[in-house]
Amino acid sequence: MKIGIGCDHGGIVLKGAVIEAITELGHDYYDYGTFGEESVDYPDYAEKVCHAVLQGEVDKGILICGTGIGISIAANKFKGIRCAHVTDEFQAQMSAEHNDANIIALGGRVSDVVLAKKMVKKFLETNFAGGRHKNRVDKIFRIEEKNFH
Ligand code: RB5
Repeated sequence: MKIGIGCDHGGIVLKGAVIEAITELGHDYYDYGTFGEESVDYPDYAEKVCHAVLQGEVDKGILICGTGIGISIAANKFKGIRCAHVTDEFQAQMSAEHNDANIIALGGRVSDVVLAKKMVKKFLETNFAGGRHKNRVDKIFRIEEKNFH
């Protein structure tokens, strides 16, 4: 798989761990920035990765800001994006298995590098379970159809 990565200045340190986890699993990645410590706005990086996922440039995305909150809120404003803000391995697994998340958001000031790598691995290794969970995700699609103009 090819994974799109985006972060603000609050996610720079954790981004290194995320890249390590992706490459250790044998996947490819594209880094949409930011690349330095200077203060930037997380919605800009959410937008780059969401477009990449929606246009099929990458298969899944990983976003990182200070808490994971702002960047996940921004990502979920894009029709077709299911971004899960996760803080432990179980949530990372469930986001893929039950919610068919196409992006996870991590907090660079929340998770340490060891935990971040475990969450990335769970997210990328877990398949969507389908079945009753597909019915629920289909309902999310229908909500989008009704509410996104
Ligand atoms: C930036 O200081 C910080 O607000 C941002 O990284 C993120 O935590 C927002 O949700």
